Amino acid sequence: MRAAANAADVAEGRFVQGVCVKVLPSAAAAERHVAALFAEQLRRKPDSVLGLATGGTPVGVYRALVAAHRAGEADLGRARTFNLDEYAGLAPDHPQSYAAYMRQHLFDHVNLPPERTHLPDGGVADAAVACRLYDALYRHYGPADLQLLGIGLNGHIGFNEPGFAPAPGGTHVVRLDESTRQANARFFGAGETVPEYALTMSAGRIMQARSIVLLATGAAKAAIVARALEGPIGTDCPASLLQLHPDATVVLDREAAGELAPERG
Ligand code: GLP
Repeated sequence: MRAAANAADVAEGRFVQGVCVKVLPSAAAAERHVAALFAEQLRRKPDSVLGLATGGTPVGVYRALVAAHRAGEADLGRARTFNLDEYAGLAPDHPQSYAAYMRQHLFDHVNLPPERTHLPDGGVADAAVACRLYDALYRHYGPADLQLLGIGLNGHIGFNEPGFAPAPGGTHVVRLDESTRQANARFFGAGETVPEYALTMSAGRIMQARSIVLLATGAAKAAIVARALEGPIGTDCPASLLQLHPDATVVLDREAAGELAPERG
């Protein structure tokens, strides 16, 4: 496995509505590029606060980051991490929890002290209390120096679904869209149901990160990527808020970039 930091994967960015867009030749190259951005962040600031995401898209990023760690190119010993979200009702030891996902794909393979890895606790009976606790931690240690994002097929970021209402508390409980539950059913076994509710950092909190990198790969994401980057800014496409962020980068493979307007000039 190649390590993350590889000059061949470094793409020139172009700006679309204030967002730096980098198109890599393949999903694997895009994943390695994002992992290299994280490795670089850790070299620049070893005690970085990293904002992490789940879903299918970042799996390859974590694989590349683990490879970089094993190659001595990414030291997470002084870092701290905050995840975007968690399913309500799934305790951290539940196999489909995002806490379990993070252990499986990253935490168990790098030198990140477990006490410096944070996710909202989906196992707490009163989810609103878990949200308040999580948000207090984030306000204390955050904001993230570098926040990783994916994008839902409907444009969601974290679990902030289209039409979300402002969440003054920062981290809050949301009801998942039916389309999101269907999209995520692939991670659950037959006979298991996708939870109806989740705990998520608000869009406002996400936007507080000093830098944001959103990764999208595959043709299925092409339409929503174009909507987020080239369409109007609005809560009907939560990822469009990135257009307002002072340091946002979107890393794509060619397929996910397939519906962007051709580069001018
Ligand atoms: C999930 C997560 C998001 C993620 C998105 C896309 O539901 N809550 O943080 O970015 O949906 O997931 P995927 O990468 O599997 O397409």
